Amino acid sequence: MKKKVLIFTGSPRENSYGASLAQAAVRGVKKAGALAEIINLSQLKLNPCQACDRCRRRGTGKCFQKDDMTQLYPRLKKARAIILVHPVYWFNINAQTKIFIDRWYAFGGDNYACFKNKKIGLILTFADRDLAASGAVNAIQAYKDMFSYLGSDLCSLVTTSTQDRNRTEKAAKVLRQAYELGREIAS
Ligand SMILES: Cc1cc2nc3c(=O)[nH]c(=O)nc-3n(C[C@H](O)[C@H](O)[C@H](O)COP(=O)(O)O)c2cc1C
Repeated sequence: MKKKVLIFTGSPRENSYGASLAQAAVRGVKKAGALAEIINLSQLKLNPCQACDRCRRRGTGKCFQKDDMTQLYPRLKKARAIILVHPVYWFNINAQTKIFIDRWYAFGGDNYACFKNKKIGLILTFADRDLAASGAVNAIQAYKDMFSYLGSDLCSLVTTSTQDRNRTEKAAKVLRQAYELGREIAS
């Protein structure tokens, strides 16, 4: 059976920069002979974690909330690799993505076993000139801590400013990086 890579996009904007980079990653995944699927988090109904701890009594991945996370839990559990693509908001992970991540808390009952050795790719976009000024550094640090705690393999990272999107050469280079990220994570 072909390996499947799930690509979660967090931008609420139509034709977002992140969406075009996610498409490039899909091409890379397919080149490596795996399957890819883009899931747009901003189009889903995802409530924040209620911190009720009921998931810890009900079993792994069983949140009491009946929203679109219900269908994502088993798919997330099964995926060998995931890619998170989102804009930096307020110097950190954007809300659409953070709500999704907070809901992973429901996997904690088995010590987050499904995240062990899962391959993780990140594609972050921002408006300011670089990682420090935009606050992307904070998101990256959070991901390093998070995936170290979960025992996942944070293997690939692409970052870019929206200012690059209109610079032909730079934009092509970033698209290529997103493609390579897809290829690497799928192989
Ligand atoms: C609520 C909000 C907060 C933002 N905060 C930041 C920020 O802290 N740093 C930054 O460089 N850009 C910030 N931006 C700009 C977005 O990161 C930028 O527009 C985005 O990366 C575009 O990517 P997209 O086309 O994939 O949505 C912010 C935008 C919004 C709407």
